Amino acid sequence: MNELDQLIQAAEADFSAATEPARLEDAKARYLGKDGSLTSLLKGLGKLPADERKTAGAAINAAKARIESALAGRRDALKNAQLEAQLAAEALDVTLPGRGMTAGSLHPVTRSLERIEALFRSIGFDVADGPEIETDWHNFTALNTPENHPARSMHDTFYLLDETGKVREDVLLRTHTSPVQVRAMLAHVQNHQHLETMPELRVICPGRVYRVDSDATHSPMFHQVEGLWIGENVSFADLKGVVADFLRRFFENDDLKVRFRPSFFPFTEPSAEIDVAFMSGALEGRWLEIAGCGMVHPNVLRFGGFDPEKYTGFAFGMGPDRLAMLRYGINDLRLFFEGDLRFLSQFQ
Ligand code: FA5
Ligand code: MG
Repeated sequence: MNELDQLIQAAEADFSAATEPARLEDAKARYLGKDGSLTSLLKGLGKLPADERKTAGAAINAAKARIESALAGRRDALKNAQLEAQLAAEALDVTLPGRGMTAGSLHPVTRSLERIEALFRSIGFDVADGPEIETDWHNFTALNTPENHPARSMHDTFYLLDETGKVREDVLLRTHTSPVQVRAMLAHVQNHQHLETMPELRVICPGRVYRVDSDATHSPMFHQVEGLWIGENVSFADLKGVVADFLRRFFENDDLKVRFRPSFFPFTEPSAEIDVAFMSGALEGRWLEIAGCGMVHPNVLRFGGFDPEKYTGFAFGMGPDRLAMLRYGINDLRLFFEGDLRFLSQFQ
């Protein structure tokens, strides 16, 4: 076997021994590279006598062609092997069971809010809303809450800072939905100023409110639904009737235990808190406060543009989160706002 045949055999053996592309390129360099064995043979041609040069050149070139074709064959083989390995790794087992689709559902508090709105609309109430960043004037002053009232202290209220980091005195995160009472009154008077007799104002205002507060029945962000009914002959008996009837319909229970407990709010006189008893679950029989209410204070009517000599009205502010607790027998309100799917998926 001559030198060239040995070279071809050695190259073929080296190429098939290379099991990855980088090794194959190393092997290629040993034969076809700048200092490769075949390249040196070609370079040596010039030293041969002229009559040998032609045959030797043809033989070397034929050997080069065979080595190159061996190289190309091995490159293809390696590429196919790599593709097959990749396909095997990414194989899809179509016989595995699917993950399935889980249907979402409305949050229990959203459901309560929708139920409250539907029930109040059915007895002629409009639905309004107001800003969550509220002026101090709407949140406190117009609600007959004097400058030094404890409800204004930093303890309950989330205040906002100005650019220099100082607490702003003019705006805050509303602590209740009652400021919407004032907005609704002012808008109602404005909208009907051209009429001789103003229609009654009946409105509820659902929305988020904020307080520095957190335990099983208090969350720093919670919801309230304000209710307001102003007319020429609205009485405390109307308040009790509307609220008790609403609660019985909300809980679909005519024997619901509801109690009005005397209380104080600067913006109502007289005032009461409304409690409902848990009907099921570990807390069955326990009372839970669900709302504050009362007859709108004459000063508040005046701030809203109503003549307190002519008009009276009642207002209430209830906690739909607490209503949801009672309806579903839940003993910790914070569960509603933690976003835990193990809790939420029970309401699907
Ligand atoms: C008020 O906020 C008055 N604005 C209610 C009112 C309106 C009285 C109109 C008179 C006329 P109070 O702080 O009690 O009152 O809150 C009302 C209801 O909101 C409570 O009964 C309770 O159901 C709910 N609530 C209060 N604080 C929280 C809290 N931190 N987390 C969840 N619910 C709360
Ligand atoms: Mg209260």
